[in-house]
Amino acid sequence: MDKLKITGGRPLRGEVRISGAKNAALPIMCAALLSAKPLRLRNVPLLRDVSTMAKLLGEMGVRVERSPDGEVVLDAARIVHPAASYELVKTMRASVLVLGPLLARCGEAKVSLPGGCAIGARPVDQHVKGLQAMGATISIEHGYMQASARRLRGARIVMDLVTVTGTENLMMAAALAEGETLLENAAREPEVVDLARCLSAMGAKIEGAGSDKIRIQGVPSLGGAEHRVMPDRIETGTYLAAAAAAGGKIRLTGTAPESLDATLDKLREAGARIEIHGSSIDLEIARRPGAVSVRTAPYPAFATDMQAQFMALACVADGTALITETIFENRFMHAIELQRLGADIRLEGNTAVVKGVERLQGAAVMATDLRASAGLVIAGLVAEGDTVVDRIYHLDRGYEGLEKKLSALGARVERIG
Ligand code: UD1
Repeated sequence: MDKLKITGGRPLRGEVRISGAKNAALPIMCAALLSAKPLRLRNVPLLRDVSTMAKLLGEMGVRVERSPDGEVVLDAARIVHPAASYELVKTMRASVLVLGPLLARCGEAKVSLPGGCAIGARPVDQHVKGLQAMGATISIEHGYMQASARRLRGARIVMDLVTVTGTENLMMAAALAEGETLLENAAREPEVVDLARCLSAMGAKIEGAGSDKIRIQGVPSLGGAEHRVMPDRIETGTYLAAAAAAGGKIRLTGTAPESLDATLDKLREAGARIEIHGSSIDLEIARRPGAVSVRTAPYPAFATDMQAQFMALACVADGTALITETIFENRFMHAIELQRLGADIRLEGNTAVVKGVERLQGAAVMATDLRASAGLVIAGLVAEGDTVVDRIYHLDRGYEGLEKKLSALGARVERIG
């Protein structure tokens, strides 16, 4: 069952609950490696990437238990094999997040280089450079990063560019290093802040997470903790963009509206009425959306993980939108698929010029990566007739219960063989 059939043309109406954030859960699961005491996590989404991470940690000797209510307990009392194989890293690049914690806790780590992926080159040089500045020796052998360090030392690290997992890797390593680490040009993403909160609950001394300067005082060891994973801002934004494109009125509960400023501003600009009540967001749109241009950049600017969804929205908007991608060099694979549905898109370097059309027509399309798939699903929801999205295993990596949630909003979706 690797295809999703969507019969488009219906507005979305209803209420769904947002899951825990994939991009917060993955680094936080890796944080368990830093302590010999259990880490108890709530609001962990049921996703392919989360099971992959559990498998990866399991291979190292971490005990991972999931209870039916979504609680996950990770116990890294003993780490028997501080390594991440190519087989797992190539399916999930976030696996590289084990490098910093393993090195800090075990003094050694062997982690596969991730290689390229559908959206671009995605090097990890900043992770490596930072750990080297902290005293690690890292060599590349047979496609693997072979890292060792007696005990990492605090250092002042100025990152050449803003990297989310790079910041997270170094923050985790620094938590157990000797002395103070100052990370400059750090990523300010809310998921970095959530990780810092979890590390602090484990006993780490971290200041400044959420700003571009994070100061970490290393401690000799960390303890156990309980932590609730923050809500998924990208899942939230995806349903909001879907409703803005298809029309209707939806309520998303259990989310974190304060992490969505850039997305909400753009949806308002498109003509949606948005109301926030605590952790709920209501969106209503009564007319065809207006064209809105977006430019991706590190948080708090517009997220690259929302780019494909907004391109889908632009396809049916009234007017012409410019969608500019500044984070990944090859993140327009969905544009070609959207054209198969009748979209008017012209690619000019890292900008897509999207002229909205009155209606899209259903067709067979192919998902190339997680967020591209989300864009195709949105387009399918507004297209006339049936759209079949192939390779939806990409969606299972990052959207918990996608068909269930879309059905709850009145969409006609069905998983087919
Ligand atoms: C994270 C998110 C991903 C999101 C991305 C950008 C997770 C698990 N994934 O990915 O969903 O799309 O942030 O918001 O949180 N770069 C380098 N050298 C490095 C590291 C990165 O050149 O050492 C470049 C990348 O190629 C890219 C840019 O920096 O062009 C940003 O990448 P980065 O923030 O690291 O993305 P991820 O952390 O992999």
